[in-house]
Amino acid sequence: MFHLECIVCGQRYGAEEVVYTCSRCGNLLDVKYDYKLLEERLSKVDLKRRPLSVWRYRELLPIKDEGKIVSLKEGGTKLHYCRRLGEALGLKSLYVKTEGDNPTGSFKDRGMTVGITKALEYGFKAVICASTGNTSASLAAYAAKAGITCIVLIPSGKIAYGKLAQAIVYGAKIVQVKGNFDDALRIVMELSLKGKFYLLNSVNPYRVEGQKTLAYEVADQLGRPPSFLVVPVGNAGNISAIWKGFKEYKRLGFAEATPKMMGIQAEGASPIAEAVKLGLSEIRPVEKPETVATAIRIGSPVNWRKALNAIRESGGTAETVSDREIVEAQKLLARLEGLFVEPASAASIAGLRKLVEQGAIDKDELVVCVATGHGLKDPDTPVRFGEPPLEADKTLEAVVKILEER
Ligand code: F0G
Repeated sequence: MFHLECIVCGQRYGAEEVVYTCSRCGNLLDVKYDYKLLEERLSKVDLKRRPLSVWRYRELLPIKDEGKIVSLKEGGTKLHYCRRLGEALGLKSLYVKTEGDNPTGSFKDRGMTVGITKALEYGFKAVICASTGNTSASLAAYAAKAGITCIVLIPSGKIAYGKLAQAIVYGAKIVQVKGNFDDALRIVMELSLKGKFYLLNSVNPYRVEGQKTLAYEVADQLGRPPSFLVVPVGNAGNISAIWKGFKEYKRLGFAEATPKMMGIQAEGASPIAEAVKLGLSEIRPVEKPETVATAIRIGSPVNWRKALNAIRESGGTAETVSDREIVEAQKLLARLEGLFVEPASAASIAGLRKLVEQGAIDKDELVVCVATGHGLKDPDTPVRFGEPPLEADKTLEAVVKILEER
C-alpha cells in the first residue's frame, strides 16, 4: 500500500526496510501511496464522521498494523478565528491553529504517534533524536507510553526550560552536546546507522507523515484550504509535510485548491529564506545560528530540498524576522487573542505582519498561521523581555497607591 522513494533519483525502498536517506544518492526519502486505490476506498463523508485527530486519516498514514498504534490523542487542535489580531495586521480572515493543544504542547506529537508506532512495527527497543527541545519532549512521552528507551541529544544550555523539564520527567536519557542542534543531529544520524536505535528526527520520512495531518485538519475545519499557510521553519520538516498534506487532499478530490506556503525563519538562522529570496537551487548553511526562538535555531536544515520544493511549487515565499519582531508578535497574539505561544511560533505571526505590509498577502485573503508550540514551553523569554511586576508593601494603601501611580 505504500513504499519509500528518493526525492532526487527515484530509487524505491520497500516498507519493510529500515532506511532514512537514499543509500544510492544520499538524498531525502518520501512515502508514496496508491492514490487510485485510496480514492476508491476513502470518502470525505466517511472521514468527517470520525473525531478530528491524526488518526481520523489513518488510511493516509504509513502504518501496517493498527493494533500497534501508540497514541496520546494527538491532533484535533483548535483553529481560532482571530478578529482582533486580523484588524491589527490588516487582514479580514485570519485564523491561528494552536498546535500547543497537543499532548506534549507542540506539533511534534502528530509525527511521534506515527514514528513510535513504526519503531514498534520494526521491533526497536530504543529510539533516538537530536532536538532543540520539542522533539525530545514529544519523543520522550511517546517512548514512555510505548515502554521503550528514549535517548535525546540537545544543544548544551540552548533549550527552553519547559521542554527540558518534560524530557526529564518522561524519563529520557538526555545528553547535552557542547555544540548546536546541527552538531547533535549529525551525531544521532551516524549513531542510528549502527542499527540499535530508531532515529526519529524529521529526516525520518515516516515521522513527518504524521505532521501532514495538520493540512487535512485545517481544510476540514475551514471547509476548504486557506489561500496562505504561514509556518515557522527550522529543520524544515513541518512545512514540507504540511504541503504534502494539502497536495494529497487535492489529489484525492477532498479539496479544490492548495495554499501558498509561506515559511518564516529567524534572521540569525535563515538559510532557507535566503535561498528563496536569492533564487538559489541549494541552501548555504549558517555556521553559527542564533535567535531567541531556540526551537528554530538551526543552521543546516536537513529537509531543505523538500522545503524549497514546497515553497516554490505552492507559489509561496519565505521571510525572515528579527528577535525583536518575534517578541513583539508573541505579545500581540497574547494581548489581542489570549493565545500564548512560544517564540518560534510567534515568528509566524511576525512574518505574516511583514508579508501583509509588503503587499505579498492581500487583506481579503483567507490566512492560517500555525502556532507550533505552547507558550509555557519557554517561560523565561516573556519574563526576560516583558515589564517586571509591580511591588508593594503588604497594606491596602500601598497597593492602591502603586496602582494609581501607574
Ligand atoms: N516551531 C517549533 C515550536 C519547533 O519546535 C520547531 C522545531 C519548529 C517550529 C520548526 O519545525 O524543524 O519542522 O521546520 N523543532 C525541532 C525540535 C527542531 O527539535 O524540537 P521544523
